[in-house]
Amino acid sequence: MKLIDNYIPKTETEYNKLYQKSIEDPNSFWSDIASTFAWKKKWNKTFEFDFKKPDFKWFLDGKLNITENCLDRHLTKKAEKTAIIFEPNDPNEECQRISYKELHSKVCKFSNVLKKNNIVKGDRVCLYMPMVPELAIAVLACARLGAVHSVVFAGFSATALAARINDANCKMLLTADGSFRGNKTIDLKSIADEALTKCPSVETCIVLKRINSRIKLNKIDKWWHEELNGESDKFDSIEMDSEDPLFILYTSGSTGKPKGMVHSCGGYMVYSSYSFKSVFQYQHNDIYWCTADIGWITGHSYIVYGPLLNGATTIMFEGVPSYPDFGRFWEICEKHKVNQFYTAPTAIRALAKHSLDFVRNYDLSSLKVLGTVGEPINEEAWKWYNENVGKNKCPIVDTWWQTETGGIMISSLANVTKGKPTFATKPLIGIQPVLLDDEGKEFHENNKNGILAIKFPWPSIARTIYGDHERYNEVYFSNYPGYYFPGDGAFRDDQGNYRITGRVDDVVIVSGHNLGTAPIEDAINLHENVVESALVGYPHEIKGNALYAFVILKNDKNIDGIRAEINQLISKTIGPIAKPEKIQIVDGLPKTRSGKIMRRILRKIAAGETDNFGDISTLLNPEIVKQIVNEKN
Ligand code: PRX
Repeated sequence: MKLIDNYIPKTETEYNKLYQKSIEDPNSFWSDIASTFAWKKKWNKTFEFDFKKPDFKWFLDGKLNITENCLDRHLTKKAEKTAIIFEPNDPNEECQRISYKELHSKVCKFSNVLKKNNIVKGDRVCLYMPMVPELAIAVLACARLGAVHSVVFAGFSATALAARINDANCKMLLTADGSFRGNKTIDLKSIADEALTKCPSVETCIVLKRINSRIKLNKIDKWWHEELNGESDKFDSIEMDSEDPLFILYTSGSTGKPKGMVHSCGGYMVYSSYSFKSVFQYQHNDIYWCTADIGWITGHSYIVYGPLLNGATTIMFEGVPSYPDFGRFWEICEKHKVNQFYTAPTAIRALAKHSLDFVRNYDLSSLKVLGTVGEPINEEAWKWYNENVGKNKCPIVDTWWQTETGGIMISSLANVTKGKPTFATKPLIGIQPVLLDDEGKEFHENNKNGILAIKFPWPSIARTIYGDHERYNEVYFSNYPGYYFPGDGAFRDDQGNYRITGRVDDVVIVSGHNLGTAPIEDAINLHENVVESALVGYPHEIKGNALYAFVILKNDKNIDGIRAEINQLISKTIGPIAKPEKIQIVDGLPKTRSGKIMRRILRKIAAGETDNFGDISTLLNPEIVKQIVNEKN
């Protein structure tokens, strides 16, 4: 077997050379990379694609099981190496270290539990869990058995959970009696119970004891620890086709229904692993920490799969950056001598608001690489991170990618290619970004803004939206035929570095979370007193963006009460993360003659840029603009 290290560039010249090769001869490039993994049967063809259908296949007819590469493969040389360090919410609770050997045995045991409960290859299993090792174990156990995991972030409401379970027709739910979050506990089980009243496909619910709350078990509920009793720690991994689905992960879109992005076994394995090693330049004994939650793609690719595929030590943190105080991240960095630290700009901005002593109290000299993900990082936050955390000696990799891309697409490679504050910089090897003008024409000039698109497939591109291939085509491939359209705008400088300028559609990134405005408007409109609503994002000091709702009411009695009820509705249908920062009651919304809300104008009003709206004479009701501005407080 070839070694992946042979394809990881160590210098800028090597990056340029490998990049060139990956573009000129993607076939042999990706074939070389794929050869560094264990396959049950080698593929016949490296890739096949058609942007029109759209259809993407990688490593055709190859057979594998990703967990063999995450676990079994490491047992010869790294059996005793720590795979996962678990850092609990409460700093006084002891941390756990799970070796590769132990992880292998725990995963096998849980695969046996799944099997005993009638889960077979292809079944969908939903996970609604705290950030504890059992979540990673269960994810891998699904993959080992060939079940498709669908992790739902444990901050989502019962309605949102039920919608995701039903969309994928999940046969099983894995959850816990509750979760710890700072000084609070969250009653996951009762949220799950409420969801399950609307989910007829779920036959079994396995419940992990985490907070020792008194819960009542329903007919379909079983205790996790009881199910594990007496189970064997041997489980032969199931042979999967390269194109078989590995997991579904939901992401917001610009219409009400979340999109279940489907990732495949072979391509996702190759790319999540290769991108992890290239970007973070992980070395054998490094301790790597990504602070995301496994409920998001960052956790899938860069807490679980990418690191484990590389035999890395990955930290899982259950808590929040502010508990017991704002020094918690740095305390953990010191305690575990973290070498690579990967977080979101929103966390950096929040921590930068507090005393520098929270950082200075800890020895951060182990840090070699810092990373950011999820939203553009502003210059101030970048500087704070660089100076106070990285002590001006750690490169910062600003990684641009999406749930749909499965892995990092544009980023500098730590200590290999140059970073540039606020720029994601250059594409990863094998990735071909382009800029398009408004007509969809590719242009090559630099120092210009455009629509970001990708013109050649890569192994971990999502294959479809679960149950809705037409929507997959419509959202990502029909606006700009021949390209993958991610929904972001970008600027390219004269060195070819990309800076992501933000979404060009109706998705708003709040605190690094991708929120579609449509489902939140749908939630607001459920209020009996609401006639219509429009939601936009506006710049926010800490969250990056915050949400601003413009709402028309039937009558405006008890406005404060209505605001509170709207917030409750949003929490209930989506989750507290989707609550708007401001709700302005208005008499009307600016609309085009065809009745479309002019969000561009509302975005300006929300941002306080009220001096120039451009030509609004074509609006159906231009007078409303002035009225909304005057009534804004
Ligand atoms: O707008 C981009 C923004 O996050 C979107 C993807 O969100 P999601 O699928 O939830 O995945 C987030 C984690 C990968 C993108 O379309 N985004 C992500 N990373 C960056 C970013 N915007 C600017 N800079 C980034 N580094």
